[in-house]
Parts: sequence; structure tokens; C-alpha cells
Amino acid sequence: STINVILSGGVGSRLWPLSRKSRPKQYLPLFQGKTLFQSTVSRNSGFCDSILVVGNKDNFELSRIDLEKEGIQDFIEIVEACPRNTAAAIAFAAFASAPEDILFITPSDHLIDASDLYSNAISRALELAKKGSIVTFGLKPKSPETGFGYIEAKEEEVLSFREKPNVETARAFLNAGNFYWNSGMFCFMAGVYLGELQKFEPEVFTKSKEAFLASSDGQLDFNLSMAIPSISVDYAVMERTDKIKVVPSNFQWSDMGSFESVYEYLVNAGHEADENGNLVIGMNKHTEFIGLENTIWIHTPDANLILKKEKSQEVKEVFERLEKSN
Ligand code: GDD
Ligand code: MG
Repeated sequence: STINVILSGGVGSRLWPLSRKSRPKQYLPLFQGKTLFQSTVSRNSGFCDSILVVGNKDNFELSRIDLEKEGIQDFIEIVEACPRNTAAAIAFAAFASAPEDILFITPSDHLIDASDLYSNAISRALELAKKGSIVTFGLKPKSPETGFGYIEAKEEEVLSFREKPNVETARAFLNAGNFYWNSGMFCFMAGVYLGELQKFEPEVFTKSKEAFLASSDGQLDFNLSMAIPSISVDYAVMERTDKIKVVPSNFQWSDMGSFESVYEYLVNAGHEADENGNLVIGMNKHTEFIGLENTIWIHTPDANLILKKEKSQEVKEVFERLEKSN
């Protein structure tokens, strides 16, 4: 069967004050009153027979609430005692499945337009996964982002996968013309993933298996979890496997990794910035800006942030400063 594995492990420091430690960004009811987690569920449930959520114990309850809101009663829970990164999180899901089950791995914090472009990409990925491939989704890169993985491709064949390059390399990839951004979603058979993980990161494989087998009711033990090396699936498997394929895609996608990306998404989706590019997020009240351009005002009941769009990467530092002073 086909299982939607939803990963929900982020802290959300880059979208403060919208997101807080107690409520990472995927649980904010920002988008037409829905959270990104809810949209993930509703966007993907049609392609899958069941849902499996891997998330941190500190906010698992928020996942349960969102699933209930989407009318999902039955789902599989894997509750992490501590985050051990995505190679392990996906391994838990794979150990909980039959080897021939197709896992459709999705982050829970992306904003994606569930159009035909999206459905077609997923359908193709499921087809390729059934034949034994490890499938990625490639999006047309728009800038030399250093926070993404890059996929060098010739149609569906992947020539190389490179996670988080430095800015010079990213620029070269962008100019080369045959590189895609990795979407962060993946599709493969559970057994195929575990085989590759065992080959490339035997310790992650063994320790994740031990932790999974010792879990009860999907709750993982802290000490056994701490023994698992922390590495992302991108470095552990995607950069190394020769089973990798890409589905070149052009659905509307944003990883919501900064206010700049939230801004781009909202403006593309028809939210109004004023003629100088100023935008308010989090409030419906009519607001005017004078003498400012490309300014974003993030409004929440107990904290405001006003920033130049271009300075979005510095939000994390504010978050960290406030964490320290608390
Ligand atoms: N359950 C669980 N446990 N989930 C986790 C953990 C963990 O320990 N660590 C991360 N996640 C979840 C995050 O919440 C997110 O939904 C997803 O896994 C990806 O992790 P990120 O930390 O957001 O990865 P990234 O953004 O740096 O990079 C990935 O996504 C990019 C696209 O947004 C990579 O796959 C890149 O190659 C890709 O371009
Ligand atoms: Mg991310």
C-alpha cells in the first residue's frame, strides 16, 4: 500500500514571532485559517492509503489536533524522544512498514499549490517508486539558495545530487541550467530505502532499528535514540544512491524557510503588497506605509517584527537572542 509519511520536527526559529518553540510554523493557522500541517494532510491523502506521522513528543499533540480537524481518525504515530534528523525519522517509518510499501515522504511545513501539476508529479513518482527507484522532485531554481539540495539531471535521470552547496557552487549550478532544487519530498519502497541506508550509513540503520524495535505504542526511548547518528537523508542517501530519479516539476512550492519566501509566496498567490512592496502578515486591518519599501510587518497578539525583506535571514539571530535573555 501507499503511505504518506509526514515529517514534523522543525523548531521554526526563522519565522519568529509567527512561529514559536511551542508552536513551530507548520502548526500556525496562517493560510486561509489552515495550518501547513493540515494542508499537507489534505493535499496528499488522496494519493495514499494511510498516514504515518513522525514527530517530536513536545508537539505531537498539535499534529493529532490537525489530523482530527482534517477528519483523519486512523493514522500511525511515531513519537520521537529527541530529534535525530531525517535519515533516522524516515528509517522509523520504513521499519513500521512492509518492505514493498510505497512511502511518500513529505515535510509538514511547506506551502504547495495542490494543482494538476502537483498530482501529475506525484503520480509519476509513485510509478517510478514501484519500479524500485528512490524518487525526488526537482523544482526550477530561482536563486543561488544555499539551504537546498541541488539535483543535476537529464530528464528523469539524476547525474548528481548535492546538498547545501556554498554560494559560489550554487551560482554555478544555477548558471549551468540543468540543475533543480530538491523539494524535500521523496518517494520509494520502504525496503529499498532501508537497503540503501544500511549500505551507506550502517550505524544509522542499526541504531534506528534497535530504537524502533524497543519502542512501545510508537514511543521511542530517549537513550536508544541518542545513540543514532544525526544525519539528514540528503547526505546519508540522496547524495550516494544510484537508484535516485527525479520528477522535474513546476507546481507552486515554497519551503517557507524565511519571511522572504513567505512574502514571495503570498504575493504570487494574490495577497496585496502596496506599490512599494510593503506587506503586512498576520492581520487583516487596513495598514498604510509611508516612506518605506519592501518592508514586512509581522503582527501577532504579543509580538511584532518589522523588517526589510532582504534581511529575512537575520530573524534567526533575533530568535536566538531572545531565547538567551529568557
Ligand atoms: N520527525 C522528524 N525528526 N522530522 C524532522 C527531523 C527529525 O529529527 N529533522 C527534520 N525534520 C523534518 C522537518 O520538520 C522538515 O519538515 C523536514 O524534516 C526537512 O527538514 P529540514 O531541517 O527542514 O531540512 P532542510 O530544509 O534543511 O533541507 C531539506 O529540504 C529542502 C527543501 O525545503 C533537504 O531535503 C533539501 O535538500 C531540500 O532542498
Ligand atoms: Mg526545511
